[in-house]
Amino acid sequence: MRHRLLVPSAAAAAAFLLLAVPASAAEPKPGAPSIGDSYYPDAGNGGYHVSHYDLRLKYQPKTDQLDGTATLTATATQDLSRFDLDFLLDTKEVLVNGKKAAFAKSGVHKLEITPAAALAQGKSFTIVVRYSGVPSQVKVAGFSAWQHTPDGGVAAQEPESAAWWFPSNDHPLDKATYDISVSVPDDVQAISNGVLAAKSSKLGWTRYNWRSTKPQATYLTTLAVGRFDITTDTTANGLPVVNAYSKDLGDNYDSAKASVERSSEVIDWESTVFGPYPFTAVGGYVPNVPTHFALETQTRPFYSPAQFAKGANVSVVVHELAHQWFGDNVSVKDWRDIWLNEGFASYAQWLWSEKENEGTAQQLADYIYSLHPAEDPFWTVKPGDPGADKQFDEAVYDRGPIALQALRNQVGDKVFFEILKGWTSANRYGNASVQDFTRYAEKVSGKPLQELFDTWLFTTAKPSAAEAAKWGI
Ligand code: ARG
Ligand code: ZN
Repeated sequence: MRHRLLVPSAAAAAAFLLLAVPASAAEPKPGAPSIGDSYYPDAGNGGYHVSHYDLRLKYQPKTDQLDGTATLTATATQDLSRFDLDFLLDTKEVLVNGKKAAFAKSGVHKLEITPAAALAQGKSFTIVVRYSGVPSQVKVAGFSAWQHTPDGGVAAQEPESAAWWFPSNDHPLDKATYDISVSVPDDVQAISNGVLAAKSSKLGWTRYNWRSTKPQATYLTTLAVGRFDITTDTTANGLPVVNAYSKDLGDNYDSAKASVERSSEVIDWESTVFGPYPFTAVGGYVPNVPTHFALETQTRPFYSPAQFAKGANVSVVVHELAHQWFGDNVSVKDWRDIWLNEGFASYAQWLWSEKENEGTAQQLADYIYSLHPAEDPFWTVKPGDPGADKQFDEAVYDRGPIALQALRNQVGDKVFFEILKGWTSANRYGNASVQDFTRYAEKVSGKPLQELFDTWLFTTAKPSAAEAAKWGI
C-alpha cells in the first residue's frame, strides 16, 4: 500500500499500474474458519498450516487448573488479514511474530486472531497464546473431551480433544511436530506422545518434556497426568518403549499390564505385515478413567481400564497399534474416510486372530456376514461414508474389514499384502481418501475393483448370498 501514497508522474503512474495491480488483487483476507470437512464443518481453519507446536504447561490435579503458553510455527497459505485457531480455554494474550495481536472468541470454539500486520502468503510466522482454564468444566453440548480423574486429567478423544487443552488447527489435514512440556506436582507423572526428552524437578514440581518429531494430527496428541507406574524398554528392532499404568487400576491392573506389555511384540509383528513402523517410540497408557474406549494416540495409545475388565485383551492393543499405520501415518483427508482407519485396524485384529489360530480372517468375515440378517440395521450404514453420527458404528468396525477380506480374495495374498505395505509407504505422513485407496488397489492389482468396494462399503443393504459369493464371502 505504501507505494500508492506518491505517484509523481504519468509515466510512473503507468509503471505503478503494471507492477501494482496484480499485487493489489491479492488484498489480505481473513482465513476461512473451516478446513472444509464434510462431517465437521467447524473443524480446522483455512489460510495457514502449522508445522510445530511448542506447549509449556503447568497442571494442578486437585483443581484441574491448566495454565499454558503455546507457541505455534505456521506458514500462511494466502495473504492473511486474520485467522482462527480452535480453542476453548481462556486466552490471556496473543502475540504474532512477537507483536501483540487482537483476539476474540467466535463461534463455539474459535479464537479469532488479528495480527498487527497482515501475513504474506508463503511466509512463516509464529503465534504465542497464553492461556488458562479448568478443562473438565468447559462443556460443548454438555460434553468435555478432558477427563478429570481423582489423581489428574486426561485428554484423549476422537474426532477432537485438542481444543480443551491447547489452541490448534484441529483437523487431521494439518499435521505437525510437537514439544510438550508439562510441570506437575512431584507425586504424579505426565504422559504424552513420543520420547521423554527431559525430566527435571524443583520446588516440589516435576517437568516432563515429551517430543514428537514425526507429523502428528491434533486428535492423536494426548496428555495424561496421574499416579502412574512407568516402564521403559526397547523393542527387538531397537525402538524405545514407554508404558504407563495408573497405580489405581485395582483388579484391572494385572490384566492391563498383561495386555499393554505385549506392545513391542505386536509392533514387531505388525511391521512385518504393514511395513516399517513410522514413528520413533511406542507404548501405551492406562489412566484411571471410567470410560470404555481406546484411542490410537500417536506412539502411545490410550486404553480405558474397562478394556481389561474381563482379563487380558491383546486384541485391542493390536487394533490401536495397527492405527499407527492406518490413521496416524496415513490419516483421513475428511472424517468421512474413517473406514481407512477403523476398517484396517479391525482387519489387523482378524490377521492377529489368524496368526494365533483363533479363527482366520476368512472365517471371521463369513461369521459377520451370517451373524447379521438382512433386516438388521447393521447393513443400512455405509462403512465408506457412515455419516458423522455413525462414524464409530459397528458397521464401520465389523462390515468395514469384510471389504478387505473381499479384496484379499480377489487379488490373492501376495498382491493384497503388497497393497497394504505399498499404501502405508506411498502415503507416509500424509492424508488419503477412501477413493484414493480403491484407485491404488486397482493400480497395484491391475483389476477393476469399483464393484467390490461399492458392494461392501457403499451399499445400504445386505449383499445377497450370490453377490457375497462373488467376492468369496
Ligand atoms: N479410534 C478409536 C478406536 O480405535 C475410537 C474412539 C471412539 N471414541 C469414543 N469416544 N468412543 O476404537
Ligand atoms: Zn479404531
